[in-house]
Amino acid sequence: MTAASTLLPTYATVNLSALAHNLSCIQGYLSPGCEVMAIVKANAYGHGAVEIAHALARKGIGRFAVASLEEGITLRQAGVSTPIVVLGALFDQQLADLVAHRLTPVISNGLILPALAQAANSQPSPYQIHLKIETGMGRLGFSPDELRPLLDNPLLRGALHVEGLMTHLADADGTDTSFTERQLGVFQAILEQVRRRGLSLPLVHTANSAAIVRFSASHYSLVRPGIMLYGYQTLPAAIPAPDLQQVLSLRTTIAHIRTIPRGGTVSYNRTFTASRPTRIAVLPIGYADGYSRQLSNRGSVLIQGRRAPIVGLVCMDMTMVDVTDIPPVEVGETVTLIGQQAGAAIWADEVADWIGTIPYEYYG
Ligand SMILES: Cc1ncc(COP(=O)(O)O)c(C=O)c1O
Repeated sequence: MTAASTLLPTYATVNLSALAHNLSCIQGYLSPGCEVMAIVKANAYGHGAVEIAHALARKGIGRFAVASLEEGITLRQAGVSTPIVVLGALFDQQLADLVAHRLTPVISNGLILPALAQAANSQPSPYQIHLKIETGMGRLGFSPDELRPLLDNPLLRGALHVEGLMTHLADADGTDTSFTERQLGVFQAILEQVRRRGLSLPLVHTANSAAIVRFSASHYSLVRPGIMLYGYQTLPAAIPAPDLQQVLSLRTTIAHIRTIPRGGTVSYNRTFTASRPTRIAVLPIGYADGYSRQLSNRGSVLIQGRRAPIVGLVCMDMTMVDVTDIPPVEVGETVTLIGQQAGAAIWADEVADWIGTIPYEYYG
């Protein structure tokens, strides 16, 4: 387990044993030979990309994927030397840095190939790239029609080497499986066509977390789990849930307690009025720390394992909760915003639900 110093009143804890547990859970769905490319984009979904990548590398993971060039460079500068795939769009002016940091691009647009070949021309061997196929996400990727002329491009048999072929599934966690099956069918046909053109494609990948659980036909040689590594899933209720452990906890410390009379109000714009004498605990965390302002008068936190409702507007660096029903509460007590406390728990998916979003977006 790593933790920010508990000398800090507000801190996140990242449980690396839970991460390792989730990784083995994911690996349990895979056939021999199929490997995990861990998705550590968006700072590993808020968990700290460098620490998560090092921890996964110690568990044998030898391939990571990020969204942007900058995220890839951050990992390289932190000593991650294994292959890193950049999933997101790249621009000509980024290609020199991409090559300098040995990052593998996912190509969705043939217009960038000459500039990439130019940037890679001092490399001793052809530069590895992955091609993305658009099969229904409506985002990045070559349509089947765009792919045909691309495969004739001599750069793909010269300065560049197509190591991987991928697509992204739009509805792997939806209740109806038909769209995913259609996407996988389109992808399989394209894969066969590309292989017939003489490209060996050692790495083929389509599966995000939900597809790993539900569609073994999506596994190919690599899978790309993100959210399940961090302990969450968004599968339909009818699907047996994987046995995951949430990785991140978020805690703070009571900074101040005051009692306000009936009719007293709390925080900006006085959106909470006490209907009884009310004990208010002031917490040193606010929306500048990622604790969403949409939790105002909506969410709860755990104190002594009991739920204390948030009252008034969440401020930039403070949040107030009603502790009237949890006597006796003292300054200095630990408050759990995400995590377990005395047998109770509030996890990021519940917090996300309170504010109408998904656990992908909300990690505090
Ligand atoms: C291309 C790609 N692959 C894989 C993932 C991981 O998805 P999940 O977190 O659902 O496993 C993402 C995340 O959005 C992605 O953009």
